[in-house]
Amino acid sequence: MSRVSSNRLRVGLVGCGQRARDYYVPLLTTLADFEPVGCVGRSTARAAEVAHALGCPSYADVEALLSRAHPDLVVVCVPYHANGEVTLELVDGRVALLCETPLAHRLEVGDAIVERARSSGSIVAVAEQFPRFPRVELVRLAIESGMFGRILHTASDFGGHGYHGMALARTLLGLDRVPLQALGIQRSFDVAPHWSRIEGRSGRNRERWDFGAIEFADGSFASFVFTDHGYDSPLRWHRQVRFFGSGGMGVDDRLTVLDPDAREPHSLPIQWDTVELRGHHWVRGLAVVAPPWLGGQRVEWRSPYPDVPLRDDQIAVASALAEVASRSAGWGSRSIRRRSRVARSGVHARDRAFARAWWRAVPLPSPTRTGALLRRSVMARSPAYR
Ligand SMILES: NC(=O)c1ccc[n+]([C@@H]2O[C@H](COP(=O)([O-])OP(=O)(O)OC[C@H]3O[C@@H](n4cnc5c(N)ncnc54)[C@H](OP(=O)(O)O)[C@@H]3O)[C@@H](O)[C@H]2O)c1
Repeated sequence: MSRVSSNRLRVGLVGCGQRARDYYVPLLTTLADFEPVGCVGRSTARAAEVAHALGCPSYADVEALLSRAHPDLVVVCVPYHANGEVTLELVDGRVALLCETPLAHRLEVGDAIVERARSSGSIVAVAEQFPRFPRVELVRLAIESGMFGRILHTASDFGGHGYHGMALARTLLGLDRVPLQALGIQRSFDVAPHWSRIEGRSGRNRERWDFGAIEFADGSFASFVFTDHGYDSPLRWHRQVRFFGSGGMGVDDRLTVLDPDAREPHSLPIQWDTVELRGHHWVRGLAVVAPPWLGGQRVEWRSPYPDVPLRDDQIAVASALAEVASRSAGWGSRSIRRRSRVARSGVHARDRAFARAWWRAVPLPSPTRTGALLRRSVMARSPAYR
């Protein structure tokens, strides 16, 4: 229940590290829908710094944050390995939760969060931002409009690691598809020594590959490839997301359908609505129009914050915030509520479908070997995997 008369959602931040500073501090202090009311971090100095930037108090622990600051929404932004446990503690119906990726790094903790969210009626969303990038959102909406026919296959090649890559592939395929079986393969190889930007060193010469595939009950399938060099290596410079429909296809944002004679691909250019500010073009909306022989339908994506200059990655995280906020009961922002696109249910539909597919892609072809590989490929992380 919101404790203020304003329309703003009271937000608490748990974790005051890099991601909090890069995304949640700027967003929570810029977007008028949110009011930062407190933060929690293990290091007092770091928590005080973030509290100062947010303009709110810092608290020693989560209980103090809840009982004294009365947040409506808590963003869980603790280290990778702690996300699940901290989220699990908070899933009891008192506050809505937006959890940084991944929701949990152990299957049973993720399952427990989903189960507890269901039984307590809590709103739990994962800040999985890759499918919320503006161009991905537009492509998803265009796919949903039917202009590419039925989607048969999607692929994320270095589109993002693990859950990010699979989230992209699954989102474009449609999260309502029921997974039938899954395959995960992980392999390591020697490669030419080269520079690693993230590690800040040369001579890296070993690469780990992750490959994943899911077959769905309707025969469609999604695949994903990534390596632990995917974000920072001169050896692996290519990133691509593809979808193939019965009436067209897309490679990143290059979209095509058949021409009227069905002899050539016909390009569907993306129309950009941007605003120029401080030398940048900030995206406010994107659109694509089906050709006349397919009905001429215009499909549009609008930024949830068109009046605020945000980078694409910031829009993606802001969309996650807006979406979970729109589902929070008992607080007053009608502006966000109007933007709600998600079904009303105990757990965020997108995350639930994602969790179900990625964690529970059963029955597996071979319960022992393939299952173990899949889980290891999903759950195991190298330090570069953040
Ligand atoms: N979606 C994406 O693309 C993406 C990208 C990067 C990161 N992430 C995720 O974002 C999260 C945060 O990453 P980061 O890079 O910001 O990590 P970080 O720099 O290590 O910061 C984590 C913060 O959480 C604090 N903390 C640790 N355990 C805590 C607990 N039990 N209760 C409260 N605070 C606790 C830490 O305190 P101390 O300072 O005292 O250690 C630190 O301030 C991770 O889950 C990561 O996987 C997602």
